Amino acid sequence: MQPISRRRALQLGGLGLAGVALGGTGLAWSRESVLDPRTGADWSEPKLLSSENGLLRVRLEAAEGPLTIAGREATAYGYNGGLPGPTLRLRPGDRLQARLVNSLGTVTNLHVHGLYVSPEGNGDNVFVAVQPGESFDYDYQLPEDHPPGVYWYHPHHHGMVADQVFGGLYGAIIVEDPDEPPVTRERVLVVSDITLDDAGRLRQPSTMARMMGREGELVLVNGQVRPTLTARPGERERWRIINACSARYLRLRLDGQQMQLLGIDSGRFPQPRDVDEVVLATGNRADLLVTAAEGASTLDGLAVDRGSAGMMGGSGTSSGNVGALATLRVTGTPGPQLPAIPAQPVPVDLRDVEPAARRRLTFAMGMGGGGMSFTIDGKEFDAQRIDQTVQVGTVEEWTLTNASSMDHPVHLHVWPMQIVAEAGRPVDGVIRQDVVNVPARSDVTVRVAFDEFGGRTVYHCHILDHEDNGMMGVVEAQRAP
Ligand code: C2O
Ligand code: CU
Ligand code: CU
Repeated sequence: MQPISRRRALQLGGLGLAGVALGGTGLAWSRESVLDPRTGADWSEPKLLSSENGLLRVRLEAAEGPLTIAGREATAYGYNGGLPGPTLRLRPGDRLQARLVNSLGTVTNLHVHGLYVSPEGNGDNVFVAVQPGESFDYDYQLPEDHPPGVYWYHPHHHGMVADQVFGGLYGAIIVEDPDEPPVTRERVLVVSDITLDDAGRLRQPSTMARMMGREGELVLVNGQVRPTLTARPGERERWRIINACSARYLRLRLDGQQMQLLGIDSGRFPQPRDVDEVVLATGNRADLLVTAAEGASTLDGLAVDRGSAGMMGGSGTSSGNVGALATLRVTGTPGPQLPAIPAQPVPVDLRDVEPAARRRLTFAMGMGGGGMSFTIDGKEFDAQRIDQTVQVGTVEEWTLTNASSMDHPVHLHVWPMQIVAEAGRPVDGVIRQDVVNVPARSDVTVRVAFDEFGGRTVYHCHILDHEDNGMMGVVEAQRAP
């Protein structure tokens, strides 16, 4: 039933490390090789599909085939022939019906990352397996008070996630605000990475890359290399940025322009926050306001240190400097003055609630059994085992402990986490995210309100190779009898 697991692949790979490191031979597409003349392409975004009268019905076909990447034909994965797949635009209270058609050669499924919807049945159920040639009808009901923000969808079949996401399967989901902030325009920026060989085909990562978390040689924005955006001075844009990379962290700067964060992951801050840079671990999203100032600026991706794997020669793992991801040119007559951004309601502070339970979850990496193990509380993922049982309607406090020398971005499905302490130090304000980076040899304490939905779902490291290798657990929310 289960395809060859990543873990097993690693063990096989361990027999001949050099042999599986395909990276040594053959040319890869690199920024340099595709930069000219295809860089600086006009801005483009994935196709937009919006709900009408409370319903959005879509068909998403996952397939391998010819796609346009950075203006060239390549062979990768896509939904409906696009990389990224279509953007799905919803409102709170809407219903999303998605038929997933699996035209890949491998098993897959669909996850709506960050959406506050039921994990059961044909909801956001990651235990569903859609075999090649089959399809599955998902049906998601958003609550009336669903937080606005930018979310995303991607496959989630354990053991296949990194290969399928890295290969191109992802797309944006937007949940509109009850009252949209006044902006000149909105943009979606799906940032992803991929490695293609000189024939434009997906290149398999080395065993080492599967341990560290694979980072692609090409970093793309909406499937393009360094596209150009244009605006007029004074215009205010809302950028919805998704880090859809499988392992790469992003540190984004837009020097010369004004950036304000409206929110991270889900929901809005009470007031926009002025920022110089935004750091997104894999899976995180930024809801960003950019107020354009005359001139040309680049959206730069700077290096982020995400620790080292320690044992394998001790080399550090950092998401390297990726240079300019996009160019923003601001010229012309100034745009009209826009009204101020209205304040948002102050979110509920879970520090005011006495937790029903406190737990510690320990994320670890180690050598054992002929390969490297990726565990939570000493155990690899087992879909049949329930690791945490919580009661619907209660608040819990979880201390996420990282016993390894690499960072792990920890993600919980369905219920957002409020960060209350980092390395034992309390944090200010209400910070709510669905991916929380836990630095190497440190810990982060979060509180979670297990409201509204019962059922089983998962939490895991969002370095997708780590998740595929076992760093995932099952949580079951039980309703009071
Ligand atoms: Cu974005 Cu469980 O994943
Ligand atoms: Cu998720
Ligand atoms: Cu990890």
